[in-house]
This record gives sequence, structure tokens and C-alpha cells, in this order.
Amino acid sequence: NWTMDDFIDMKIGEIRKEVGDKKVILGLSGGVDSSVTATLLHKAIGNQLTAIFVDHGMLRKDEGDQVMKALNKDLGVNIIRVNAQKRFLDKLKGVTDPEKKRKIIGKEFIEVFNEEAKKIKDVDFLAQGTLYTDVIESGTNTAQTIKSHHNVGGLPKDMHFKLIEPLRKLFKDEVRELGEKLGIPHDLVWRQPFPGPGLGIRVLGEVTEDKLKIVRESDAILREEIKRAGLQEKIWQYFTVLPGIRSVGVMGDGRTYDYTIGIRAVTSIDGMTADFAKIPWDVLGHISDRIVNEVDNVNRVVYDVTSKPPSTIEWE
Ligand code: XMP
Repeated sequence: NWTMDDFIDMKIGEIRKEVGDKKVILGLSGGVDSSVTATLLHKAIGNQLTAIFVDHGMLRKDEGDQVMKALNKDLGVNIIRVNAQKRFLDKLKGVTDPEKKRKIIGKEFIEVFNEEAKKIKDVDFLAQGTLYTDVIESGTNTAQTIKSHHNVGGLPKDMHFKLIEPLRKLFKDEVRELGEKLGIPHDLVWRQPFPGPGLGIRVLGEVTEDKLKIVRESDAILREEIKRAGLQEKIWQYFTVLPGIRSVGVMGDGRTYDYTIGIRAVTSIDGMTADFAKIPWDVLGHISDRIVNEVDNVNRVVYDVTSKPPSTIEWE
């Protein structure tokens, strides 16, 4: 029968006792779990924590800046942001297979994280935002079992850290409540799921900077209009994808031959099954108008009306 305030006090005490005067690093993805873990640790041990935020260049529009403002500027968490878009794009050049893309992004992420981690001397602990559901999913309970679907999925071979996982008894909704108590903005704490490989799996096929831009801009418009329509907490996940096909259109005086954007929006409980969201036609129509008018090289917008199964939520 504990309250969230009791939990915070208890955890801060535990963390201080365990860490002492040693240093802790953490891989910050910008997601809820790692953001809450970082903020809690910061409350407990201040600048003994260094959070490493690997920006792979496939985040949503302004996302990296928002995370830096909320956690670093406003809450004081010590964060090193690594702008690594070029490295990721170089590695992804010519790669079209979705699973290969995931593997490359995951591997590169760990490499960038490790390079940064090595620059910090005498680190004893690695903190992770493992939740209760992750503990159950991964089956075992050992310190070596790293969240398999997590971005920061591997420890450097020549570094031996002790793990700190302060959220491992909590469920997602408790983590969100904790996050709000710690002063993380509501929008950040309650945001929709976002995959580790980010927009990299929403540009179908080869990822290029130009294509990322189209997805990023169209996604920003979609999110803005979903929010304006008051639907953002009714729809479980919503985003745009760039299938890479081009089709003929007409704009002004001439014909165009440009890209199609797909809108994916689903209702779901846990992402295992999902139904397409019944967004009102007028809202969809407005989103479509804005995307075609405001995003260069797009002349058509389609809405995905399949459920999961047989489709998945993401297109890759
Ligand atoms: P699917 O597409 O499999 O997605 O129906 C179910 C949920 O998982 C997310 N997803 C991922 N999350 N890394 C992640 O961290 C990934 O590679 C990945 N693939 C899918 C997806 O956004 C949805 O919420």
C-alpha cells in the first residue's frame, strides 16, 4: 500500500546506498523508460550519472531537442547528446531488408554508446529502464539478461558494469505516474510507443536523408492534427510511412510524379493485436490536404485499413 512518493524516497535511498560515490552511465533513447530512469537517478546521485543520448537521426521531428529541454535544461540531468545521423546513414546505404536494417541500427547504436561510455573514466554501474514486463518476457533474472528488444542491448566486452534497474518492479502505467511525479512533462511521459529503429523502418527499403525528411515532416503534421482533434490519447499509435512508390498527380498547371504517404493509426491494448483507428473522414481529409500541400515530393495520401493480424502495426 505504498504511494509513489514513498517509492521515490525508498528508491533514492537504495540507489545512494548502492552507488556510494561511484559513477553510473545510462543509454537514453528518449523513450519513457530510460527518461524516467535517468531522472530518478539524477535525483538520487546528481552528476555521478552520465546519460548518453545517441541521436541516430531517425527520431521524430524536434524529438531530440524536446528530450534535451525537458531532461537536461529543465531537470538538470547530465546528458551527452551524440549526433550520429551520418554514421547511421552510411551504414544503411544500399540496405533494403527490414531485419538487416534493424540489426544495423541496433549494432551501430551499441557501438556509438560504447565509444562514448569509454570516454568516461571509472564507471562502475550501468543503469537501465527495465520494467516488470521486460523481466517476465526475458524469462531469467540474471544481470546479464539485457532487455532483448532494447536499443542498448550489449555491454562492452572489456567493461564490466553492475546493473541498476530501479523500475524492474513497475508496470508501464506506474512508470508514467512516476515520471510525472519527477517533473517530466505529461506529453513526454504519455507519448505513444516509438520503435528503437525509429523512422528508419518507416522509410520502406533504403533509408536516405531525403526520404527521412518526407516521413518526419508528414508525421509531424499527422501528430499535430491528431492532437488538435483531441484524439491523441484515444489512438494507441499513429504515424506515417513512405512506401517508396510514386504515382501520377496533378498540381497547378502540370502533372506530377511523386511519392505516396501512408497513414497508419491503430487502437490496441498492448500492440500484440490491433485494429485500425476509425478517424473521422474530415480529420483524415484535412491531414491529407496538409501533407500534400506542405511536404515536398508528396502527391498522394492513403489510409491503412488493415488490422493486426494479418498486418503488423509497422510496415516493416
Ligand atoms: P508490429 O509492427 O510488430 O509492432 O505490429 C508492434 C509494436 O512494436 C513496435 N516495434 C518495435 N519496437 N524495436 C522497437 O523497439 C523494433 O524493432 C520494433 N518493431 C516494431 C511497434 O512500433 C509497435 O508499437
